[in-house]
Amino acid sequence: MEGFYGKYGGAYVAETLIGNLEELEREYLKVKDDPDFRAELAKLLKDFVGRPTPLTPLHAISAEIGRPKIYLKREDLTHTGAHKINNALAQALLAKRMGKQRVVAETGAGQHGVAVATACSLLGLDCVIYMGAVDAERQAPNVQRMKLHGAELHLVHTGQKTLKDAISEAIRDWITNVNDTHYLLGSAVGPHPFPNIVHDFQSVIGLETREQILEQEGRLPDCIVACVGGGSNAIGMFSPFLEDEEVRLIGVQAAGKGFDTDKYAGPLIKGRPGIFQGAHTYILQNSDGQIGKSHSIAPGLDYPGVGPQHSYLKDIGRVEYTFIQDHEALHAFEYLCHKEGILPALESSHAVAYALQVAATMDEGQILVVNLSGRGDKDLSQAIEALARLKEKEASVS
Ligand SMILES: Cc1ncc(COP(=O)(O)O)c(C=O)c1O
Repeated sequence: MEGFYGKYGGAYVAETLIGNLEELEREYLKVKDDPDFRAELAKLLKDFVGRPTPLTPLHAISAEIGRPKIYLKREDLTHTGAHKINNALAQALLAKRMGKQRVVAETGAGQHGVAVATACSLLGLDCVIYMGAVDAERQAPNVQRMKLHGAELHLVHTGQKTLKDAISEAIRDWITNVNDTHYLLGSAVGPHPFPNIVHDFQSVIGLETREQILEQEGRLPDCIVACVGGGSNAIGMFSPFLEDEEVRLIGVQAAGKGFDTDKYAGPLIKGRPGIFQGAHTYILQNSDGQIGKSHSIAPGLDYPGVGPQHSYLKDIGRVEYTFIQDHEALHAFEYLCHKEGILPALESSHAVAYALQVAATMDEGQILVVNLSGRGDKDLSQAIEALARLKEKEASVS
């Protein structure tokens, strides 16, 4: 297996972890094409997760914009409400095959934590989740769900108390308990072979989309948009289309309160290459080369790093990476709820917001697909409060 995407990726970790990463790679390669593993996973994805997820045409919004036909890939309709379950269930199955009874994981938005806790309770594995204290406060319903599924939850009070600090703590736990424990990483980040494994387990999103759009429209889409935090929903969606040069691929990062403030994320826009959490990739850095602070209203996008494959795709220009600010995501959140009866996660709202801008530049008859990575129940109270504040501010300016 290749550990690099161009110059990005690799496994820059402590000596003590190398053996475990090699074991993980070996075991993964064994199950990857094993018909029994694939059949068991396919059955769980169908019967438990609810795949395939629909590809929903947005009639009202397409009619209002009057240009391309817009479709949403509905990862929000998976069991537990986000694409994270595809990877969590598959890796939990892999952990079981490896004879590991204990699973540790990190979570930001809480969706990955919920997915891991769910998969572990289904498969009878012990589950330990690390979550930043700030994220736990913003995502209270998900904290309750993880506990209900029997997960042991550790709140992280170090650093910014968000996703990057939770990942660091989960890695520390893994190093200490490596013999009986699998680290179930939730995005296409970290040392090799994690980005590769997560890429493969999330490609189900793009593979289904390809089949569905060919069936419904008889051709490939002109453009696909997905949000990029660590980058797992985007790489899963983009991967089966990378060779189709005529399909424009757009990854949307979080610009928070704007790049002219000190509250933004978006390492692919504002970062530079360096080593972070075991991989060479784009990261937010301060002038001393220390990891920069990140901010986004969407906890799943509030991360100073990104998966190494995205760094490579940016450099070769195959995927365009752009950004949306908190307030634009909030307006898209409200618009989709209002016009189409769909409540998007704040992360996914970034993709929707940018897709609406792209749609206005496209032609009638073209096809635009947006990956709706998750549903917004978890964000409801936060989004409503933020929208009220935003409208007050906008009213006072106008
Ligand atoms: C609904 C949702 N979308 C997107 C993301 C961002 O992660 P990724 O870029 O790995 O898809 C998260 C992360 O928690 C999420 O919960």
